[in-house]
Amino acid sequence: MTSTQAPTDLESYLEGTRDARLGSYADFLRFPSVSALPEHSDDCRRAAEWLADQLRAIGAEHVEVSETSAHPIVYGDWLGADGAPTAIVYGHYDVQPVDPLELWDSPPFEPVIKGERMLARGSADDKGHIHMHLRAAEALLATRGSLPLNLKFVFEGDEEASSPGLDAWLEAHARQLEADVAIISDTGFFEGNLPAITVALRGIVYAQIDVFGPPVDLHSGGYGGTVQNPANALAWILAGLKSPDGVVQIPGFYDDVVALTERDRAALADLPFDEEAYREAMGVLALVGEPDFSVLERRGARPTLDVNGLWGGFHGDGSKTIIPAHAHAKVSCRLVVDQDPGAIFDLLSAHVARIAPPGVRVEVQRLGDGRPSLTPIDHPATQAAARALEATFGRSPLYIREGGSIPICASFEETLGLPVVLLGFSQPDCHAHAPNEWMDLRNYETGIRTIARYWDELATSLG
Ligand code: BES
Ligand code: MN
Ligand code: MN
Repeated sequence: MTSTQAPTDLESYLEGTRDARLGSYADFLRFPSVSALPEHSDDCRRAAEWLADQLRAIGAEHVEVSETSAHPIVYGDWLGADGAPTAIVYGHYDVQPVDPLELWDSPPFEPVIKGERMLARGSADDKGHIHMHLRAAEALLATRGSLPLNLKFVFEGDEEASSPGLDAWLEAHARQLEADVAIISDTGFFEGNLPAITVALRGIVYAQIDVFGPPVDLHSGGYGGTVQNPANALAWILAGLKSPDGVVQIPGFYDDVVALTERDRAALADLPFDEEAYREAMGVLALVGEPDFSVLERRGARPTLDVNGLWGGFHGDGSKTIIPAHAHAKVSCRLVVDQDPGAIFDLLSAHVARIAPPGVRVEVQRLGDGRPSLTPIDHPATQAAARALEATFGRSPLYIREGGSIPICASFEETLGLPVVLLGFSQPDCHAHAPNEWMDLRNYETGIRTIARYWDELATSLG
């Protein structure tokens, strides 16, 4: 363990550098690194270069902006802890698009601090977390001259776009990425800002359904009743995917779902969760989903299907009487172990083809996917994280299942054979992916201390 002197040094270093730290955090947030939009690919690269400079400045070695088939991955390591364990630290520097822009109180890439919050796109998901790791490493190196373990930083630029180039990159760099554990900081605390370690993430398969009818829009009076309408056809198809109470209607969809054990269900039921407050916070009339499962089961441990967007035909003011030439929808399924994204995509396409009404051409494209993951609670690396959280936040963490997806999690486990610890610090209502995203600066500050403490704990427990 560390001497009692060291944390005090660390604390005074962190206290003395707070303004500079927040300034640097804001600099990082100014890059509009939206991975989904081609017009921002230079911004993604600039954010990657900035991270590489940061890594060099804190004393990391082998720093490179490494090419993938999509945006670059930033790699850097510090391997000076002879005989100590090695951890990969993962985060993603890309962010989600910002629309609808008019709902932001301040511009998304002009960070502002309001009270205890840093407001900007990426403040929580995920630039804030990357920044916490950088600053924790910097503070330890500045005060002790060394880290308690070896670190390999991997900062991705395509997580929000389903990580198309990632698995190939991981396979090509498997030797360079040899490690004992992967730490992914891209999750958050539980409702009420309760410290939490995420132990399950859902997978995802993302599809687009395109329905084509006549080559051009037709007069709906002149032709209505004689041709299939692509918009009606699309509505029919979408209605056949899921029942109103949330049961997916695709035959075989649930076949590979690993059922929750009584113990799993009890653990979820034990979490301090107020359904009514959750409903109220989301501003919806009622919570809806598979009748035989609780809200937390449905959110984290059951698969689902959602239409993410749909368009086609006329949507201006007033009326225009047409049969549109085509109509489209984006549809995604969240998956749980052991569902396979490729197999689910095949089931979805076959079902769409089966239920499609006559007279239109229907195509289903696969836009991206990620496998589900389940990480072990009793692994020493998870328990070390729990001790670090308890020491810094003053209470032992909850173990939660999250509904979101981080494709690299399953890849670390399956491709590299690494245990993964999901240690994130954002608040559950941080508006990730939405207007006015924010990071709680108390979580950010205490999180930096937690990360430093965690590395000490890991060195002891895996060493
Ligand atoms: N950080 C999130 C994942 C997440 C969401 C963790 C909610 C915990 C709670 C990540 O950046 C994300 O948004 N992932 C995408 C992946 C998709 C684009 C393949 C997601 O879940 O939609
Ligand atoms: Mn994220
Ligand atoms: Mn995200």
